[in-house]
Amino acid sequence: MRVFIFYSNTGRTDGKFKDIYHSGRIDVIVHSIIHSFFISNGFRKSVVFDLLLYGPPDPPRRIKITSNLDTPWSKKDIATLLSIALRKFNKRRTPIEAFPGVYVERKEFREVVEEYIKEGKNIYVLDKEGEFIEKVKIENPVFIIGDFLGLPKKEKKWLRDKAKFISLGDIPYFSSQVIAILNWYLDKLGFEKDYWDTGHKFEELKKKLDV
Ligand SMILES: C[S@@+](CC[C@H](N)C(=O)[O-])C[C@H]1O[C@@H](n2cnc3c(N)ncnc32)[C@H](O)[C@@H]1O
Repeated sequence: MRVFIFYSNTGRTDGKFKDIYHSGRIDVIVHSIIHSFFISNGFRKSVVFDLLLYGPPDPPRRIKITSNLDTPWSKKDIATLLSIALRKFNKRRTPIEAFPGVYVERKEFREVVEEYIKEGKNIYVLDKEGEFIEKVKIENPVFIIGDFLGLPKKEKKWLRDKAKFISLGDIPYFSSQVIAILNWYLDKLGFEKDYWDTGHKFEELKKKLDV
């Protein structure tokens, strides 16, 4: 599995996304989800996107999204899917599978990290000041990525003795770009690179346009 833990300092927890920029930068999350799972005419098979929301009005929320072809989404309506998933949870307030492959619960960031450590996974924090990724052995990885503000200082401090801090170089990238680069790097290493081919959707159009 390629596991990405995404820490959102500001993403709203009630699912009320009037517009995705002013709802705690849900746009950053949507782009990151796209780059986690979607490739051209395909969908990655072995990805977990573990989203921690710390925005108002009632943090935290965890939305764990796992590769599943039955998840009813397209690249256009990921924000709607997140919004409905949160609203479904907020009605019942017990852990739910809101959609196939999409799980919502109330859980703290640290509990989620500890869960993965107990499973025997290695934690890698993406940090510009960390050790260059090519010098680090990546094994059974969980990657932690911050949002547009980065990770809170107290969480970075807590992670110091639990994780390796790794860098993609001295360019400050968007969160979604970091995920795209990590996916490319893991593809290069040949690590869990299977995907479902969804190109059949365009066969008719391609025939019609002679492409
Ligand atoms: C837009 S950046 C956050 C910028 C924020 N001002 C900070 O200093 O953390 C989003 C996230 O991408 C990751 N990131 C960005 N550039 C990186 C790099 N060159 N190497 C490793 N991680 C990087 C970090 O996890 C960061 O929290």
